[in-house]
Amino acid sequence: MISVHALSLTIGRTEILRNIEISFDAGKIHGLIGRNGSGKTMLMKCICGFVRPTAGTVTVAGKQIGRDCDFPDSMGIIIETPGFIPYYSGYRNLRLLAGLNRKIGREEIRKTMQTVGLDPDLKRHVRKYSLGMRQRLGLAQAIMENPDLLILDEPMNGLDKEGVSDMRRYLLDLRSQGKTILIASHSAEDIAVLFDTVCEMDKGVLTQQA
Ligand SMILES: Nc1ncnc2c1ncn2[C@@H]1O[C@H](COP(=O)(O)OP(=O)(O)OP(=O)(O)O)[C@@H](O)[C@H]1O
Ligand SMILES: [Mg+2]
Repeated sequence: MISVHALSLTIGRTEILRNIEISFDAGKIHGLIGRNGSGKTMLMKCICGFVRPTAGTVTVAGKQIGRDCDFPDSMGIIIETPGFIPYYSGYRNLRLLAGLNRKIGREEIRKTMQTVGLDPDLKRHVRKYSLGMRQRLGLAQAIMENPDLLILDEPMNGLDKEGVSDMRRYLLDLRSQGKTILIASHSAEDIAVLFDTVCEMDKGVLTQQA
């Protein structure tokens, strides 16, 4: 599904990623671990097509990013804080975003919100959402168009115990539907119960794959 070949990224004089070589199979949950600043988010941004690598290639579903397409075709993402409009409700935010692709309508949005434990009729503005609610809305946005590939950068951030186990359940459910999921996480429990494969980054280098 994803293949990263000889990928390096240098910004200014700083080498952020060095010669990354990895592939991620379809239909699995792949974990990306490593210390703060080791390059997880940057690698994800290169895979998404948000950042162009200095050298090397990223190929997703047979298409080379930056050559055959700008972004992977069927992808949902959570990278850093999802950018919602603070003075709209959750539903209205998703409605606005769904309007860009026109793939889904009202019913799919409502259903997705309910799936992640949010009330689509809640009028509260997103700026008044708790961190965990915002995280759930981010997941709803990532999955609402039913993409084949999910790239989730620390999706458990800010979730309480119940939220974390809900999120794990959604992700396992998505895997059983054949989705490919790449997740960056610092949680030992995610490694134990969620990930089919784990790779570890250290200072921009991939140090371990299991
Ligand atoms: N826009 C940027 N310009 C220059 N350097 C950057 C930029 N963004 C990130 N970096 C640097 O790239 C390195 C990797 O950062 P990255 O965000 O990928 O780490 P991470 O593994 O995701 O860390 P964390 O666990 O804290 O999320 C860090 O040294 C960071 O300072
Ligand atoms: Mg990060």
